[in-house]
Amino acid sequence: MIGLPRVHHRVADSTNERARALAAAGAPHGTLVSADEQTAGRGRQGRTWTAPPRSAVLMSVVLRELHEALPLAAAVAVCEALPMPASIKWPNDVWIERRKVAGILVEGRPQEGWAVLGIGVNVATRDFPPELGDTATSLRLAGVTTSTETVMASLLGALERWLALPTPEVLAAWRERDALFGEAVRWANGSGVGVGVDETGALLVDTDSGPVALDAGEVHLLR
Ligand code: BTN
Repeated sequence: MIGLPRVHHRVADSTNERARALAAAGAPHGTLVSADEQTAGRGRQGRTWTAPPRSAVLMSVVLRELHEALPLAAAVAVCEALPMPASIKWPNDVWIERRKVAGILVEGRPQEGWAVLGIGVNVATRDFPPELGDTATSLRLAGVTTSTETVMASLLGALERWLALPTPEVLAAWRERDALFGEAVRWANGSGVGVGVDETGALLVDTDSGPVALDAGEVHLLR
């Protein structure tokens, strides 16, 4: 079951780091690590992830049954768990009203048969650092007052469902929430218009020189 056993830290360096240590020591599938606060929260692409104490869901789950579309399935589960409509910016940022409300970081040791799924959801954050002011949001700022425990409970249930569903169903649900579909985007080596994801989860972009499939890296919406 996703969410049991659970280890909760008042302060952790990174719940992903704590979950990785537990996984390496043999923790079972579904083990949940949560925290009120992180001192070294990690994001994708080597970035940091920060949140004021008790303002965000900060959780990591040890997985030993690995879904082939895990990062995409997790994003769909986050959308479903939120109390308002949300979309997904490839590959797995979750947006409300075109601002990021949740992020997902999958880290793993596939050769050892485990992965750690880390999720941060901004629930009650009122103020973001200036560099995030235009791009981040929280459920509170979007008009919903709820608790981190309520959101996490809903998220654990959604993960239980989506991580058991086959990849085609995950991809179909992901495509319904694709925030970049039909939008002008740019990345390090080009620009174009998002036209969905292929069956491997790569982002498909129409460019002046033809279609391109991006399987890694960072894509930005041209606002
Ligand atoms: C991203 O969007 O860049 C991914 C952010 C992931 C943040 C979460 S918070 C809980 C877990 N522990 C971490 O150190 N990172 C993830």
